[in-house]
Amino acid sequence: MSFADYQTELYEQSRRGHQPQLPIRFDELEAKAMAAMPPKVRGYVVGGAGDEYTQRANCDAFKRWGLYPRMLGAPDERDLAVDLFGVHLPAPVFMAPIGVLGVTAQDGHGDLACAKASVRTGIPFFAGTLSADPMEDVAATLGDTPGFFQLYTPPDRELAASLVKRAEAAGFKGIAVTLDTWVTGWRPRDLAGGNYPDVPSGCLANYTTDPVFREWLQPGEDATEAAVRKLPLFGGPFRWEDLDWLRSQTKLPLILKGICHPDDVRRAIDHGADAMYVSNHGGRQANGGLPSLDCLPGVVAAAGDLPVLFDSGVRSGADIIKALAMGATAVGIGRPYAYALAVGGVDGVVHVLRSMLAEAELIMAVDGYPSRKDLTPDALCPVPYS
Ligand code: FNR
Repeated sequence: MSFADYQTELYEQSRRGHQPQLPIRFDELEAKAMAAMPPKVRGYVVGGAGDEYTQRANCDAFKRWGLYPRMLGAPDERDLAVDLFGVHLPAPVFMAPIGVLGVTAQDGHGDLACAKASVRTGIPFFAGTLSADPMEDVAATLGDTPGFFQLYTPPDRELAASLVKRAEAAGFKGIAVTLDTWVTGWRPRDLAGGNYPDVPSGCLANYTTDPVFREWLQPGEDATEAAVRKLPLFGGPFRWEDLDWLRSQTKLPLILKGICHPDDVRRAIDHGADAMYVSNHGGRQANGGLPSLDCLPGVVAAAGDLPVLFDSGVRSGADIIKALAMGATAVGIGRPYAYALAVGGVDGVVHVLRSMLAEAELIMAVDGYPSRKDLTPDALCPVPYS
């Protein structure tokens, strides 16, 4: 599959008099998304922890690296495909879990919209625990397109086990357990706007449809209101012994989201993890931390043969290429597809994914890298003057 063809398609459409209606540039996409979202949702989606230094640093980190152009190779075809846990993916890119997609979409069903975008592009969707529609409906929408489930682990093990079993039964290909959100970070925009729990409480369908959770309800009790009152919506404290327990609950690949230190990687391997996922949650959790990209090489070195997923700060095809060259097995798109959802629904998400992949593939073409395997740390040079 050539993602670069999207460029030709867009020029063809323009020649027939149809200028692109959806933004091509990220800054334009962001501005349109700001206008499209209601204030509380906007604050929640756009904002991050503290003064958002880490959120910005995630993006800036990419600017400190450049790809060496290699000439006289002119690869006719570029191969971006990757196998992850035996699942063949057309590109080493995925939609990172975003728990409030439901309310980010104009129709309130953003999780289903992203599942549809996944079917249209083949780009896998990480369905969140926080979801406006139950995971079974998301999986049904995905059909044969492989998807993954993101788990916020409830402290109640019966409820946690139920979510895991449901994810297995629904056919998800792996579970990404989020480690960095067992307590909510200091988020000034959410505090000032009173966004929590208002915004995520629109996305509790996985809890409110769960048979274990429903057994806790009193007759006539409102399930959403009870979930907000009874549950830590982002799971609870999750420690090494909890990882052992989770490992014992499922044969699905376990992906640890939020691992950034090589020592944690080594320990996680001993505890049976199948993949690492380098992320600082897009700077939403702890401000002042390292940019996620700076953590990637250390995790890749410690992970050995295990896959290493990556996100935080990816805004372009160029960023995707740099993360791959630093050793990421697959790269997660976060805010860009959430913004696209707010602006243009399913078509918006498809457009942004195709645009980012087209740019990535065209960079590989121009700079002479025929396949993912040719993108190695040697292809990168630090840029001292950024
Ligand atoms: C997130 N992210 C996230 N991660 C997760 O594991 N579970 C979740 O429910 C959410 N929810 C969520 C909501 C919103 C509004 C955002 C923006 C992000 C984090 C997400 O998976 C990813 O790590 C970041 O989005 C990456 O940062 P950038 O590239 O979006 O800045």
